[in-house]
Amino acid sequence: MSAYEEALNHFKQLLDAQLARAERIKNAAPAKRYSAETPVTVGLIPGDGIGPVIMDETKRVIDVLLKDELAAGTIMLKPIDGLTIERRLALNQPVPADVLTAVKACDVLLKGPTTTPKGGTMESANVTLRRELDLYANIRPVQIPAEGIDWIFYRENTEGEYVLGSQGIQPTEDLAMDFKVTTDAGTRRIARAAFEYAKANGKTNVAIVTKANIMKKTDGMFSRIAHEVAQDYPGIEAEDWYIDIMAANLVNPAIRSKFQVFLLPNLYGDIITDEAAQLQGGVGTAGSANAGDQYAMFEAIHGSAPRMVEQGIAAWANPESLLRALAMLLRHIARPASAERLEKALNAASARLRMTGEPGGNTAKDFGDAVIEELA
Ligand code: IPM
Ligand code: MG
Repeated sequence: MSAYEEALNHFKQLLDAQLARAERIKNAAPAKRYSAETPVTVGLIPGDGIGPVIMDETKRVIDVLLKDELAAGTIMLKPIDGLTIERRLALNQPVPADVLTAVKACDVLLKGPTTTPKGGTMESANVTLRRELDLYANIRPVQIPAEGIDWIFYRENTEGEYVLGSQGIQPTEDLAMDFKVTTDAGTRRIARAAFEYAKANGKTNVAIVTKANIMKKTDGMFSRIAHEVAQDYPGIEAEDWYIDIMAANLVNPAIRSKFQVFLLPNLYGDIITDEAAQLQGGVGTAGSANAGDQYAMFEAIHGSAPRMVEQGIAAWANPESLLRALAMLLRHIARPASAERLEKALNAASARLRMTGEPGGNTAKDFGDAVIEELA
């Protein structure tokens, strides 16, 4: 078979798989609901790079913060090892089968960063987990109270540029193509999540951020469906923005505090949430939720920072990101009082420490100690 025919064949397979995925979304089971009494199993995945450092501190905080629930068995912790870059490469599996089985036996996950190999064909562990657990909503809050900024990003997390990111084609030395995918059902569910959040939290504006002037089919559909969903939420304004000008808006102090809720396709959401986190004080300060109807995974917004490990300064990583993710996890499982207690301790600890990510500043352990002190 010629490379050209192979590419056509490959494309046909992709098309069939995506059509089947779209059907699965439409027929998905209803969402799991939590109450304060629901027993919950929390999987703890340290990941690699600085992951184990920030997970160790987070675990120490959990033991203090959730002491009673851990003793009563209403919250159960399940450490899940084996999701390291070395093991993933050795097994040639983005998420080793035993890890996936352990993950699926949990309700929610708290996960440290995992290294994503550049190039090659090995898929990112995050992308695999998001797909396997159908974690379609990537939710990222950013707050700068002094400026009145209270943003929340609803990033679509299972399609767009990511879903086939490891399955592009290169039929000749000369030509490489990747694919971007948008489905009606996949857009509808993330749009619904964003508008439901807005409604429940008294927000009056949702910014739908695309590049629909260029990505006419995929982003065009995303914007159109988002506006359709908006019809069900009178009183909440749905505004279209292009991603380029939105990237500029976020660094424009004259207007940025007026934005409330952002709804975006996958890749734009990836990029702009790092920008937003940096404005808040750095990616080390930002947590992130990956939520689906059955599972949810909470993690730091940033990567595994292999450079910090190489330079021998991993001990100076900031665990705040993972602890913020823990607060989001606690809200998700209907433990808002514990979440609030943690957030207060985090605000106090970060105000009195100086986390610089290098010697001279405070260490991860200093941060863990400070949070535990604040909880007392
Ligand atoms: C994120 C990260 C991931 C992404 C990587 C690690 C695959 O950057 O969660 O934003 O690109 O989504
Ligand atoms: Mg990112």
